[in-house]
Amino acid sequence: MASSFRTDAYINGEWRGSAKRFPVYNPATQEVIAQVPDLGASDCEDAIAAADAAFPAWSAKTAKERAAVMRAWYEAMMADADRLAAMITREGGKPLAEAKGEAVYGASFVEWFGEEAKRAYGRTIPTTTPTRRYLTIKQPVGVCCAVTPWNFPMAMITRKAAPAIAAGCTIVLKPPHQTPLTALMLAELAEKAGIPKGVFNVVTTHAGTEEIGRTMCESPIVKKFSFTGSTAVGKKLGALCVGSTVKRISLELGGNAPLLVFADCDMDQAVKGAIACKFRNAGQTCVCANRILVEDNIYDEFSKKLAEAVKALKVGPGDQDGIAIGPLIDMKAMEKVERMVAEAIDAGATPLAGGKPNSVGKQFFTPTVLANVTRAMRVNTEEIFGPVAPLIKFSSEDEAVAIANDTPFGLAGYFFTKDVHRAWRIAERLQYGMISINDGILSNEVVPFGGVKESGLGREGGVEGLEEYLDTKYINFGGFA
Ligand code: SIN
Repeated sequence: MASSFRTDAYINGEWRGSAKRFPVYNPATQEVIAQVPDLGASDCEDAIAAADAAFPAWSAKTAKERAAVMRAWYEAMMADADRLAAMITREGGKPLAEAKGEAVYGASFVEWFGEEAKRAYGRTIPTTTPTRRYLTIKQPVGVCCAVTPWNFPMAMITRKAAPAIAAGCTIVLKPPHQTPLTALMLAELAEKAGIPKGVFNVVTTHAGTEEIGRTMCESPIVKKFSFTGSTAVGKKLGALCVGSTVKRISLELGGNAPLLVFADCDMDQAVKGAIACKFRNAGQTCVCANRILVEDNIYDEFSKKLAEAVKALKVGPGDQDGIAIGPLIDMKAMEKVERMVAEAIDAGATPLAGGKPNSVGKQFFTPTVLANVTRAMRVNTEEIFGPVAPLIKFSSEDEAVAIANDTPFGLAGYFFTKDVHRAWRIAERLQYGMISINDGILSNEVVPFGGVKESGLGREGGVEGLEEYLDTKYINFGGFA
């Protein structure tokens, strides 16, 4: 493994080292995997200049020409899916089966957007006067920058870079300091696939995170900025982008997803869906069910079944067989989860499963089910980002919707019911950008991913995801006799 991955940043088609480096850790063992360049604002400016220089030639290519190069990048990712997955697990911690799923999921954005950009159609608009004709065309927005999170070290990069590159833009990426090595593997595969220099750049940093973020947001060369991360940081970066150069922004921010279980559901399906939704990546996804609302007349039965299923989840390093719950990303995450669970228990919640750190290692938390959770507890009001399922009782559809919507966040909402009319009603009433009915997993490359309220702006994936990297230009053609 030691020699099979890159550890330098990637700017203008060249591998850039630095005397100043930072360690990347394996969260399962705290072993140092590699030392990666700790770059600063001037390196980021170099990458932006490279992306700017590459833009005219890349954007002048036809969508079909760009798609051919992207196809090669996709195929390189698929051919190397096992190596990508091993790195996703090694630096990010998730179980290997999930990491393999992420490698395929991540590659799917490159395949899909390469194809979809061929259909970036404009419109002709019926005229309002005989002397004029109206039309629109789509054009790439220009140089883009993106800041991505550690919980999906590959897929959150390709979900931004693929539509940008397919649209004819060039991009500078800052991966998180926890998981830069997967990003550098993507750069290695981009180089192998023939993505021209300057089109895809990776600027690694830890100490320079703030200055690089600021450089990206304030640069007059950069026309679009995309961020996935916390709402607090997203607000600051969004304000910088708009306040400096009014650049376009996409923000994929925090969630506090509710999962509603109605008495008329298929209970086994609901338990299975709740496990998939809540415990994927040890609860470290923005779309994880943060709280599970259960109708009062099935509350005891559902709680019991969920707790049994949760106790069966095997905890351990993600590269070992049969592991369902890997480590949390760092000690800060552990302390937060531990504190939120302890506070809930002190305030009257009952642990039906787990409730404590796990002895398998420093950064493992035992998957937990908490009964008797109240609306005031932080496990209901704040994103937990850990393997903890708080259960809240409701006694009517109105009450369930009121609890579910009582949050500034609006990313994803889930519910389980067999009543078709209720399904329509609840889907319309939940104030979330994404709704999943009778299914705990909702993401893929063809659908629009994104939130309402303080969960963000814009969409990633689907035709909407491509639009984020295109400007619509209106053309008036006059002078007709
Ligand atoms: C996220 O946590 O933001 C991504 C989850 C997904 O793509 O399903």
